[in-house]
Amino acid sequence: MPFPKNFTWGAAAASYQIEGAANADGKGPSVWDMFCKKPNAVFQGHTGDVACDHYHRYREDAALMQQIGLQAYRLSISWPRILPEGTGRVNEAGLAFYDRLIDALLEANVEPYVTLFHWDLPLALYHRGSWLNRDSADWFAEYTHRVVERLSDRVKHWMTFNEPSIFIGMGYQTGVHAPGDKLRFAELTRAAHHVLLAHGKSVQAIRAATKQPCRIGYAPAATGRIPHTDSAADIAAAKHVMFDGFGKNLWHNGLWLDPVFLGNYPDGLLQAFGDEGPDIQSSDMQIIHQPLDFFGTNIYAWERVSAKSNGAPGGERVPYPAGHASTALNWYVTPDSLYWGARFFYERYQKPIYITENGLSVRDSVALDGKVHDAQRVDFLTRYLAALRRAGEDGAEIAGYFQWSVLDNFEWAEGYKERFGLIHVDYQTQKRTLKDSAYFYADVIRSNGANIPELAATEI
Ligand code: FCB
Repeated sequence: MPFPKNFTWGAAAASYQIEGAANADGKGPSVWDMFCKKPNAVFQGHTGDVACDHYHRYREDAALMQQIGLQAYRLSISWPRILPEGTGRVNEAGLAFYDRLIDALLEANVEPYVTLFHWDLPLALYHRGSWLNRDSADWFAEYTHRVVERLSDRVKHWMTFNEPSIFIGMGYQTGVHAPGDKLRFAELTRAAHHVLLAHGKSVQAIRAATKQPCRIGYAPAATGRIPHTDSAADIAAAKHVMFDGFGKNLWHNGLWLDPVFLGNYPDGLLQAFGDEGPDIQSSDMQIIHQPLDFFGTNIYAWERVSAKSNGAPGGERVPYPAGHASTALNWYVTPDSLYWGARFFYERYQKPIYITENGLSVRDSVALDGKVHDAQRVDFLTRYLAALRRAGEDGAEIAGYFQWSVLDNFEWAEGYKERFGLIHVDYQTQKRTLKDSAYFYADVIRSNGANIPELAATEI
């Protein structure tokens, strides 16, 4: 069976990772601007000050997207470009940049999918307590309102947060990402709850301010497990780890998905959190549980599990064998994560599934012939897309796929060492070179996936 006729083929990037122009035209600092200046925080002291200079080169980048034939581009808006202090004063030049970018995309026939928050919190709001402050939900709604009133005459697809579990977990628990804090569990669940409230209030703000009918989603990094075999017992084991099996675990889907899509934290999760759980006030769950139009999720590499040998509920990790295919970041290549991800999330939440990010880092460089031969990315794409299509054949409603990333970019604490792009960027000259995978992906898009071979589960 082919990919659905109206399937959306896209690629993604995020403001801080590509824009540069960190101090241009009245932009305020973000927590990432601050974090990059901390000693030893980022690989070799790299920063997003210049990045891909997309702020100035967005026209060239839109033209490259058109050359690849991208139907959609998932971008994010930099909150401190719009509201340099996080709330209050609006920076017109920041809004004007996104006006120009959206116009350039539409002229290039690329549909913008806008994420409102991809981690660059205004530093001024960090100083006011960031997500620990319950007011953060209103700050985010105010910012959402400003963006939507300006761009919604042209933007029809919105996402609130990118990967909240990651920016709370890595930003406030392990300290590996901005702002680099290491808080107690009780503060973390409090911050998480405020992010969820901010999500709900942002969805309300989008619906109130939009100038045309629009579709709204969310882009979490869900926790996932691949069943080792397709036996009923292994499938049940994977689902148990994903949706039950609670502990004092900040990454659980019961924290980030169930409240948004089902309107409650699972009882077992609240019991496991005990008196370190979130402070839930009376209408909070209704605010968080806004109707959404699609289920977006970022999927890279999942572990696999089998049923426990003693028959108890839960899963046992089945490690990948020595030498299993992996990427430059040492993430395992696990195409079945798209198959089971699409199936499990569709079954549980009953929304059309968008893979809002998927991709890999490769040690790409420009070869003597002037080209970038990223055969591993072509193979990765082929396998993952074959798996996603199988999920559609087996009943999941698959609606779109966004390759991470359109351009090589600033990979957070890893700096510019990791190259995730379909397009190679030379950071000394800002020269862009389409990689072999970009030409391959162009064929995928042109043929609506017909050039992806049918692969049996065992071949993937
Ligand atoms: C995701 C992030 C994205 C990028 C990829 C590799 O966690 O959302 O910005 O860093 O990983």
